Amino acid sequence: MTAQLNPRGDVAVLVPAAGSGTRLGPGAPKALRLLGGEPLLVHALRRVCQAPSVAAVVVAAPPDEVAFVRAMLAPVAPVTVVAGGAHRQASVAAALAAVPAEIPIVLVHDAARALAPPHLVESVAAAVRAGAEAVIPVLPVVDTIKEVGPDEAVRGTVDRTPLRAVQTPQGFRRQVLAAAHAAAVDPLTDDAGLVEKQGVRVTCVPGSDHALKITRPFDLLLAEHLLATE
Ligand code: CTP
Ligand code: MG
Repeated sequence: MTAQLNPRGDVAVLVPAAGSGTRLGPGAPKALRLLGGEPLLVHALRRVCQAPSVAAVVVAAPPDEVAFVRAMLAPVAPVTVVAGGAHRQASVAAALAAVPAEIPIVLVHDAARALAPPHLVESVAAAVRAGAEAVIPVLPVVDTIKEVGPDEAVRGTVDRTPLRAVQTPQGFRRQVLAAAHAAAVDPLTDDAGLVEKQGVRVTCVPGSDHALKITRPFDLLLAEHLLATE
């Protein structure tokens, strides 16, 4: 069944999905790889569309696959599909340009975090609505972290107490994200990093184990298990 978005919602979600998935190994672009028989992008979108604040979704697809992705998503949800760029930041910028003018809150959510639950979308959006300019979902770091030299010799042990692993969706006041992208010089792997460079305060909210980024083959196996037990 086609998902319905909320026409009175105040949130647009950008879904960068134009990566190749090099670390996952040879095959189709990562967003089109199957998890439980359906593409990662379809899983991610279904969950985004279940969040009641979402009024619009813009997907950045691999440039050669735009028509295919548009046709694939038409029965899933009413989304806009644009061509992504050479790196993630360019894909986000392309999607941001397609957000309807009246929407004040923009979330950026990797297609690779296919099982991020709808309540995470809502909690990030709620924190922006409550006044934060930029919001990221985070988890504490559980492993001991060492700094290692090029010779693989340990240089020291990092205090992990203040460290956090960062997930998506990341949420922003629309103008804050637009200004950060307009001022961007070097490509970064997350949008909050761009906003930090502008001196904007970035606020953390609790992340979710289910929002893991499917990066390597092991992550796909883990996600298959999570999906079966959802
Ligand atoms: N992404 C994108 N455009 C790019 C590169 C990445 O939209 N040019 C998206 C990916 O599709 C993914 C998200 O950004 O949803 C996070 O990137 P990552 O997990 O690194 O995915 P890939 O770049 O596809 O994987 P890899 O780095 O292993 O090639
Ligand atoms: Mg990548």
